[in-house]
Amino acid sequence: MKAPCKISPSLLSADFANLESEMAQLDPSLVDYLHLDVMDGHFVPNITIGPDVVKAIASRTNIPLDVHLMIENPERYIKQFADAGAHIITVHAEAATHLQRCLQQIREFGCKAGVSLNPATPLEALHYVLEDSDLILLMTVNPGFGGQKFIPQMLQKIKDCVALIENRNIELEVDGGVKVSNIKSLYEAGARVFVSGSEIFSNPPYNDVIRRMRSVLCDR
Ligand code: DX5
Ligand code: ZN
Repeated sequence: MKAPCKISPSLLSADFANLESEMAQLDPSLVDYLHLDVMDGHFVPNITIGPDVVKAIASRTNIPLDVHLMIENPERYIKQFADAGAHIITVHAEAATHLQRCLQQIREFGCKAGVSLNPATPLEALHYVLEDSDLILLMTVNPGFGGQKFIPQMLQKIKDCVALIENRNIELEVDGGVKVSNIKSLYEAGARVFVSGSEIFSNPPYNDVIRRMRSVLCDR
């Protein structure tokens, strides 16, 4: 039997004027998390949503919210995103001055603590926070926008990260350029949670794309 896999559709590529109906088109039995991309125009060049929108989304779905904070000094906002209904809160190692404290805070607020690395950031940034992390999010594009091309050098980084995690109970998630055509190679490298935005939301019906991803990955 294959290891379990999770799919986390990113709403970044959904129609922002119709988020409720976009979410309603996702079959909750096929989707493990809903990935929400929070950008501040500082850490990344783009600006997206804040805690109020996350809260509104939480009020319309039972899918656990996988909140990806691409913001500077994320420790200032952990409580707000936890109160908004996040299940996982992921912060960037590059953006948190006191990363270990930030991860601790996330857990204290009752959420799963995730830590993310940009493509060029070495895995060494994770060494001393592994015990504080429930999830590692490896960016497989430079964060800021949907629809970018997967960076192939990240396959080796995923493999190296699996070795770093060892037998710890940490989920390994990948984000950026994930498609039906490359998801198998990401799985074989060791990723187990797959964020996908444009591939899903540009190709309706969405559940068909997710089913195709699942069929190349594993049984649910
Ligand atoms: C990019 C975001 C991603 C984005 C992925 O900075 O973190 O979650 O939505 O989009 P695709 O799947 O289109 O690369
Ligand atoms: Zn993301």
